[in-house]
Amino acid sequence: MRKKLIAANWKMYKNPEQTREFFAAFLPLVAGHTRDEIVVCPPFVDLYAAVEAAKGSSIAIGGQDVYWKEEGAFTGEISSSMLLAAGATHVIIGHSERRQYFAETDDTVNLKLKAALEAGLTPIVCVGEVLEEREANLTEDVLRRQCLRAFHAISGKKAAKLVIAYEPVWAIGTGKTATPQMAADAHELIRSEAAKAFGDEFAAQLRILYGGSVKPENAKALMAEEQIDGALVGGASLDAKSFTAIVQY
Ligand code: 13P
Repeated sequence: MRKKLIAANWKMYKNPEQTREFFAAFLPLVAGHTRDEIVVCPPFVDLYAAVEAAKGSSIAIGGQDVYWKEEGAFTGEISSSMLLAAGATHVIIGHSERRQYFAETDDTVNLKLKAALEAGLTPIVCVGEVLEEREANLTEDVLRRQCLRAFHAISGKKAAKLVIAYEPVWAIGTGKTATPQMAADAHELIRSEAAKAFGDEFAAQLRILYGGSVKPENAKALMAEEQIDGALVGGASLDAKSFTAIVQY
């Protein structure tokens, strides 16, 4: 049985004060919820406030990106060890918004993944096709390429903590959700790529989250799919009540 992981990606929303307000509302609502793992990924400047607020709870905190070097003259970047020192345990890598707007490539995803695993973070690697690719029947090719290159030169032993998030880009922030069946098909393909790279046993344990307009109204149907091991939630994770409703699908 794979324990489901429900992760909040706050993107560029909330400051430290709003972060504290969120946790003050959210923690009592999910107190005692042990069925699923819960992770909140706020902007970097909110990490400290989030870690402090979540102390003593079972909520884990993650970054939204990471650079692959340990330290150095890399203005604006954050390393894995900095995330860990700030109290984060997870990190999102290769989100489609980083691929679209900030020149993230399959190769930088691979470098970031290696660095995060090496440091002991739990990486949540995002893959997913854009609308034109889906319409041109290229979804499988795109997912295969993204997985193959993300996993390049990483051993199954090293990759133990890996989590994948399938986020069809056309479903992000649009209100359009992949049907549970579409997501399950994509997840199956991703799992088979993981099996090729890391072996069947690894693939059977690998958690593959779905992301893209996950809302309280559709969470139950998505989570009912055997292939879907959790959710990566954007917009609906910003409000404590709606994120709670998703966590308690
Ligand atoms: P939305 O839930 O707002 O569609 O965002 C999904 C996402 O990109 C999570 O990483």
